[in-house]
Amino acid sequence: MSTRTVGILGTGRMAVRIADQLVRNGHEVILGSRTPARARTIANELGPYGITAGSYDFAMEAPFVLPAAFIRDGLFDLLRQHRDQLAGKVVIDILNPFNDDYSDFILPWDTSAGEELAKLLPDSKVVGIFKNIFWETFGHPQFDEGVSDVYVLGDDQHAKQAVTTLFARSPFRFVDGGGTRNSRVVERMTLFASELSRRYAYAPRLGWRFLGGPPAEGRVDPYAHLA
Ligand SMILES: NC(=O)c1ccc[n+]([C@@H]2O[C@H](COP(=O)([O-])OP(=O)(O)OC[C@H]3O[C@@H](n4cnc5c(N)ncnc54)[C@H](OP(=O)(O)O)[C@@H]3O)[C@@H](O)[C@H]2O)c1
Repeated sequence: MSTRTVGILGTGRMAVRIADQLVRNGHEVILGSRTPARARTIANELGPYGITAGSYDFAMEAPFVLPAAFIRDGLFDLLRQHRDQLAGKVVIDILNPFNDDYSDFILPWDTSAGEELAKLLPDSKVVGIFKNIFWETFGHPQFDEGVSDVYVLGDDQHAKQAVTTLFARSPFRFVDGGGTRNSRVVERMTLFASELSRRYAYAPRLGWRFLGGPPAEGRVDPYAHLA
């Protein structure tokens, strides 16, 4: 197992796409499933190299572990049971605490999946990424306005850098989103984007892009004489 191996827990929409991204970036993936045969079929389909299929237990042996299941389905109970095994590892957090019908979160406003995960695994380094990317975007990352931003979150700068580097060749703009506490902002941005995308019939094709740039030198403020 290489030092860049990522163990993924789950074989759903995000798991498959992120596994594919990691392999395209030249890394190894252990695709873990409650049904390893399902993971094996996906691994065979994605390509002959880079992906090994197995159980959740096996995937959690990797130095980077990426849970790709929902909190509402008992993910935190599973991770709690493996707290010791996950100690010292980087846990890649893509979680948004959606309820069953995606109308709201199952966590209150004053916390987030990222913060609760960091509390649950105090001896792991939790790095948030891809929380604001919807599954469809992986296959079609280009929007008229450019590629979507991916906000990277965490309190350990080295771990954040290591996770960003894993996806260096992926077609997104990675933006340092600050500490784990900002998970509550980014996750809520995703909830809001989800609502907007349904209202305007964009779902699931949506992303976020932070606009701006350094102030242009010499630019005159046309309102300066008024206020
Ligand atoms: N969908 C998105 O666009 C998106 C965007 C950003 C973040 N996320 C986050 O990514 C995570 C996964 O989302 P997803 O859309 O990829 O989910 P999904 O397609 O529904 O897949 C979830 C996976 O979780 C595993 N799982 C474990 N326990 C389960 C249970 N009791 N019931 C059902 N599945 C169970 C399953 O894998 P096995 O059967 O192989 O064990 C399943 O394939 C979520 O936390 C979500 O908030 C999703």
